[in-house]
Amino acid sequence: MGKTLIKNGTVVTAIDQSEADVLIEDGKVTAILARDHGMEADEVIDASGKYVMPGGIDVHTHMELPFGGTFAADTFETGTRAAAWGGTTTIVDFAVQTVGQSAMEGWEAWMEKAQGNCAIDYGFHMITGDINDQTLKEMEQLVREGVTSFKMFMAYPGVFYSDDGQIVRAMQKAAEDGATISMHAENGIAIDVYVGQALERGETDPIHHGMVRKSILEGEATHRAIKLAQVTGAQLYIVHLSAKEALDEVVRARDEGLNVWAETCPQYLFLSLDNLGNGFDGAKYVCSPPLRDEDAGHQQRLWQGLKTNDLQVVSTDHCPFCMGDHHTFGTQKQLGQGDFSKIPNGMPGVENRMELIYNGGVAEGRISLNRFVEITSTTPAKMFGLYPKKGAIAVGSDADILIFDPHGKHVISADTHHMDVDYSAYEGWEMTGKVETVLSKGKVIIADDQYHGQPGDGEYLARGTSQLSI
Ligand code: URP
Ligand code: ZN
Ligand code: ZN
Repeated sequence: MGKTLIKNGTVVTAIDQSEADVLIEDGKVTAILARDHGMEADEVIDASGKYVMPGGIDVHTHMELPFGGTFAADTFETGTRAAAWGGTTTIVDFAVQTVGQSAMEGWEAWMEKAQGNCAIDYGFHMITGDINDQTLKEMEQLVREGVTSFKMFMAYPGVFYSDDGQIVRAMQKAAEDGATISMHAENGIAIDVYVGQALERGETDPIHHGMVRKSILEGEATHRAIKLAQVTGAQLYIVHLSAKEALDEVVRARDEGLNVWAETCPQYLFLSLDNLGNGFDGAKYVCSPPLRDEDAGHQQRLWQGLKTNDLQVVSTDHCPFCMGDHHTFGTQKQLGQGDFSKIPNGMPGVENRMELIYNGGVAEGRISLNRFVEITSTTPAKMFGLYPKKGAIAVGSDADILIFDPHGKHVISADTHHMDVDYSAYEGWEMTGKVETVLSKGKVIIADDQYHGQPGDGEYLARGTSQLSI
């Protein structure tokens, strides 16, 4: 690979903005040059009128996740390619340890699924579904392998659920190793009571998924997770935060100086309980935590949290299931016809995050351009031990670069998206701001509305521990 020069663009990072050219050699940024430098290159990319930004980092995806009797529809091949189309150049996906299985075996299985198939670089968190003496030992081994964060569930009893004792044990171990506990904070035991009662009343439509998973129960679980983290000294990252009650708890913890962080996702910023209505069509929007009641002010609080750094990251929780049959995995959302609790939980989004957050955040005046880079790339990299290899345009960083047209238009649609799922949660939405060119380690993988990469371009990232903790 010779020299590549990105010329005439506006380089935007989490902290500044400059009229500069970016020189790339051997997959890395080697210089950021003032204009008229006279430097020649083998390949020149003209970025006039465009932003040149660090590629997106989506730290919450579920490719091929086994869930609710089927599998998330995107494989590592289709899902990472779709991510690239959307300006994301790194994902951190979730390897799974199921009950009775060793965590190392779970990680190795996910490494095999991803190996040779990814369009962009990838790392793993580990879902620890079975905390026991053996798992605790394996957590240490996994940290050495670059899996430095462990997702636990206070939801989904009988599936991924951990009780408070298991959470405490895992947090003690994580604190010892410098690892992070990522928490799905919903009180699943209480929610299941409401689920049973709703079904007994004959309330079976998707809308009831949103009614029974009450926001106060996300607040309660978030509070409990924080207290358990405090007593054990663990670093805590709340995933897919959707409710103002949960945000209140995070704000309080951060004000107390605890190592607590949280992410939210586009679906909680743009969609609401109303989307779960309209009969079974609402199944498209079934995810957990659920979309919240807009009238209660959740969305506005989440945007405020992003602005004030009470929320640090926007990820997608990309976990797509088809409304019709999937060509490989068969029946998906329809598994929940007549019983909302059997609808596989999850929504597509890995391809849409950068444009949605630019459009709704920057173009509509809710956050600054630098903050956009910070919450979609730089902080995710720091949070999960990837910075400054990822999440930066700096000398020595990987040349994972997004060239973004702030005036470009893009209409989101299932007819044109690249995710392997038969609907879009944002069908027909017109975005101001368009992903134009994407480079992964210096190689152009998206340009001129074409994909130029191949499976296996993406490599495994052994991550360090969080760079945000003090
Ligand atoms: O509904 C969701 N979020 N599905 C994916 C699994 C999870 O809890 O993140
Ligand atoms: Zn979750
Ligand atoms: Zn998830």
